[in-house]
Amino acid sequence: MFSLKQKVAVVTGAGSGIGAAIAECFAQAGALVYVADCNVAAGLDTVGRIVHAGGQAKLATIDITKEADCQAIIRRVLAENENRCDVLVNNAGIGHVGTILSTEPSDLERLWQVNLRGAYFLSRAVLPAMIARRAGSIINLASVAGVMGMESRFAYTVTKHAIVGMTRAMAMDHGPTGVRINCICPGRTQTPFVDARLREYPNPDDYRKQMEAPHALKRMAQPMEIASAALYLASDESAFVTGSAMIVDGGYTAGK
Ligand SMILES: NC(=O)c1ccc[n+]([C@@H]2O[C@H](COP(=O)([O-])OP(=O)(O)OC[C@H]3O[C@@H](n4cnc5c(N)ncnc54)[C@H](O)[C@@H]3O)[C@@H](O)[C@H]2O)c1
Repeated sequence: MFSLKQKVAVVTGAGSGIGAAIAECFAQAGALVYVADCNVAAGLDTVGRIVHAGGQAKLATIDITKEADCQAIIRRVLAENENRCDVLVNNAGIGHVGTILSTEPSDLERLWQVNLRGAYFLSRAVLPAMIARRAGSIINLASVAGVMGMESRFAYTVTKHAIVGMTRAMAMDHGPTGVRINCICPGRTQTPFVDARLREYPNPDDYRKQMEAPHALKRMAQPMEIASAALYLASDESAFVTGSAMIVDGGYTAGK
């Protein structure tokens, strides 16, 4: 079950948090993983951990806001693997705190560039090869903020709703070719991004409790708990799943 043997996967933002867990989980399941990140040191750390554990991984330095970088990485992956790239995980993303009134045009533009355009560039680059093989799985990282309004997260909510919309539109367009496109909507997940935010507060424990409270399970996810969902969507066991916004949120949205 859930084997990725012989599969080639690209995971963006794989230097940290959820992306690193997905890369490690995919490699454990037998995939060759391209660890794509703009942070070289972080990417190398992930590659090192995978190789140390006996898996296969290669570093791919990329700024997903640059179309040329996105095209180049996909060209490289296809050239090194007889024109195949079985799985693309558009995971890299950034956050922003603010309402529409405190979100400057430059803030919205930055989130749009990283959270949406990167996934758009990479999907456009990889789709022709997936369509040619009549197989492939694209997995986008959305958020619970992709299916509900989140207070003081205006730009983040806008871009994550767009990711859910992009997933559904692509699933409809490319379903007939056998390529599947899904997204995952995690609840709060304990990653370096969240840890850094906690440290900004005078009393991190109180803020942590605030972050945990909306989840039915009264805790945050660990990155591997999100990676398991990605593993399912990448594997052939999810062959009939496309266009889904898979909620992995510890019950965050259950009571809304
Ligand atoms: N952590 C959470 O609570 C949570 C909840 C729901 C959804 N998500 C989503 O999951 C994804 C991963 O989140 P995380 O918490 O693991 O983040 P993180 O900050 O721990 O890691 C993000 C990684 O993306 C990389 N990155 C950022 N901009 C990039 C760019 N332009 N090009 C290439 N790489 C870039 C960073 O270097 C970093 O390694 C994001 O899309 C995020 O919105 C996170």
